[in-house]
Amino acid sequence: MSETLSQNATDAAPPVRTTAPSPVLHPLHPPTRAEIERGVATLSESGACQGRLAFSSVSLLEPPKAAVKNFAPGQPITRVLRFLGVDGQGSFDARVNVSSGELLEVRRQAGVQAPLSGRDFIRAIKITKADPAWQRAVRKRGIDDFERIQVDMWPGSGPLVNGADPGHRLVRAIAFVRHDKTDNGYARPLHGIIAHLDLTEGRVVHVEDHGVRTIPPESGRYEAEHQPALRTDLKPLDISQPEGPSFRIDGYAVSWQKWSFRVGMHPQHGLVLHELCHEDGDRKRPILYRAALADMVVPYGDSDPMHSWKHVLDASEASIGNLANSLKLGCDCLGEIRYLDINTVAHNGEAVTVENAVCIHEEDYGVLWKHMDIHSAPDFHAEVRRSRRLVVSSFFTVGNYEYGFYWYLYLDGTIQMEVKLTGIVGVSAVETGAEKPEFAPLIAPNLASPIHQHLFCFRLDFELDGEDNAVYEVDVEPSPPGPANPHGTQFHARSTLLGSETEARRDCAPHKSRSWKVVNPQRLNRLGVPVGYKLLAGATPTLFADPDSYVGKRAGFARHNLWVTAFDAEELSAAGDMSLQSPGDGGLPAYSRDRNIDNTDLVVWHTFGLTHVPRPEDWPVMPVEYSGFSLMPVGFFERNPALDLPPSKHHCS
Ligand code: CO
Repeated sequence: MSETLSQNATDAAPPVRTTAPSPVLHPLHPPTRAEIERGVATLSESGACQGRLAFSSVSLLEPPKAAVKNFAPGQPITRVLRFLGVDGQGSFDARVNVSSGELLEVRRQAGVQAPLSGRDFIRAIKITKADPAWQRAVRKRGIDDFERIQVDMWPGSGPLVNGADPGHRLVRAIAFVRHDKTDNGYARPLHGIIAHLDLTEGRVVHVEDHGVRTIPPESGRYEAEHQPALRTDLKPLDISQPEGPSFRIDGYAVSWQKWSFRVGMHPQHGLVLHELCHEDGDRKRPILYRAALADMVVPYGDSDPMHSWKHVLDASEASIGNLANSLKLGCDCLGEIRYLDINTVAHNGEAVTVENAVCIHEEDYGVLWKHMDIHSAPDFHAEVRRSRRLVVSSFFTVGNYEYGFYWYLYLDGTIQMEVKLTGIVGVSAVETGAEKPEFAPLIAPNLASPIHQHLFCFRLDFELDGEDNAVYEVDVEPSPPGPANPHGTQFHARSTLLGSETEARRDCAPHKSRSWKVVNPQRLNRLGVPVGYKLLAGATPTLFADPDSYVGKRAGFARHNLWVTAFDAEELSAAGDMSLQSPGDGGLPAYSRDRNIDNTDLVVWHTFGLTHVPRPEDWPVMPVEYSGFSLMPVGFFERNPALDLPPSKHHCS
C-alpha cells in the first residue's frame, strides 16, 4: 500500500538468528528487536511453515488482564508474539513463545488472507508492469516508458473478477504517470485501467480497460521548490520549556500530572494506550484498561468502475501500525518532545525499528477556567488557570493518504482522541464537460475526486474504578406541556440503561444532545450517584453504503456510532481478526450477540468519522481535517479536579 512498507525491505531469504531476547520489564512492553528475531527464527526452523515465508506483521499477544494487573516488577514474564504472513501453504497466524523459544500454534483459516505486506507491494508493481495486456492498455494512452508509471496496489477484497480464485491472494493495481521520480503521480491518473492480480500464482488474471480518457494537464507538485513564491512574513514561533517537560517516561510507561498509562503500537490497531489511570488524593483510579483503533474503512460513493470497489480497511488489511512515520522535531512536533521507537517485522523476517514513531509532548491549550468577580470593584479580581494537555501521537502513511492519531489528556480529567486526515485524495480523470459533480467534484482542470467517507472505530475497554461497569444513553428532551410544565419551557435529561448487546447498537442524535455515560454502579460518589465518564461524540456520520453491499457486510461496525459488548480478549478488531478477502461474517456485528452488559466487564466501541466531499482546496495536498471524540468525567470527581492548579506566575502579571 505504501512505499514506507518497502523502505527497509529486501528480497533476501529470512535470516536465521537465535539472539537471546533482551529483558523486558513489563508484560505489555512492545516487541523488542531480539524478540522479533527469535520468533522469526523459531518459526522458520520449526517446520510448521513451508516454502518462502513472507511476513505481514508481528504483534504482542497480550497476556490476560488479570496477569497484567497482578504483575509486580521483577516477576518472570512470558512473552508470546503473533506473526501473520504467507508461506507455501497460504496465510498463517503463528504464535511463538519467545521467552522459551517454542512455537505454540500455527492457525490457518480458509477464506481469509494475512494482511498486505511489503512483499505484496513490490511484487504487485513488478507483475503489473511485466504484463502484456496491461502494457497494451498503457501504450493506448500514448506512454511507452513504464518507468514513469506509478502502480498503486489495492486490496482484492470485494467483488471478484472472472477467473480469480478466491482462495488465492488477490490484489488490484491502478496506475498514474510521473514526470520524474519525485513527481506527484496522482495529478495524472491513467483512468480506466485496473489490473487484477493473483499474487499466489504471480500473474495478472485480468486487465479491465474502460476506455481512454485525457490525462489531466496540470502538475500536482506541492513541495516548496515548485511553488511560484513562498511567504516571507512568518516570524519564528518557538516553544520553550527551560526546566524541561512535566511528564516522565520510564520505558513505555508515562506519567504526567495525575495521569499514568502505558504506550504501545499494534500493527492493526496502531497507537494503543493501556492502563490509563488518574490519581485522586491517595487513590490511583483506573479509567481505561486498553484504548485503540479497532479498524477503519474508507468507502467510495462513486460508481465509476475505478472507484466503486474501493473500501479499504486500512487497519486490518494494510496494517496501519506498520506504516508509522519516523517523526521529525520542528516539523511533525513542536516543543519539548520525547519520542518512543517501535519495532516491526519486514516481509523477509528482519526486525525493523521505526525511530521516533510516537511523539509525546505538552501543549498550552488556552484557558481551562476563569471567573472575574464583578462585585470586587475597583480591582475586579479575576482568577484564571491555563489549560495544558499531554499529547501522545503518531502519523501513518497509507498509500496516498496520511492519518495522525492524537490522544490528548487534560488537567480536568478529560480524555480526547483526535484524528488528523491529510495527504492526497483519490482522483479521476474527466473529459471537459463530462463531470458528474454529485459523485466526484472537480478539484483541478480535468481532475475530479470521488466522494467518500473515512470511518474509524475505536475500542474502549473501560474499567472505571473496577472492571464491572454499565452504560446509559442520555437524551435531553422537552417535557410535554401540562400542569408540571405550565410555561412549556421544561426539558430534562433522560437516562436509559443499555442492558444487552443488541440494545446497545446506537446512533448519534445531535437534536437530542445525546451522549453515552459509562458508570460503575457499585461506586457511588459523595452525592450518591455512580461515578461515570461520558462519551461525547462529534457530529459524525455512519456508513452510507447499503447493508447488503460488500462494504456494508465487511465493515458492519460502521453502521452504528455506538456498540457495547461483553469483554472477550479475542474480540479486538471491528472487522474481524483477519479481514483481507473476508466476506464480512466476523467482527463487531458478530461479537454483538445478546450478552448482558449491565454491571459486568464491558467494552465500548465508537464509530466516528467524516464524509469527504472533496474541494479544490484539498488539491494537490489536503489541509488537515479533524475528527474525533471526547471522554469527560461525570461525577467521577467530587468537584472541578483542577482547582489545585497554581495561577501561572510567569506569564500573568
Ligand atoms: Co478523504
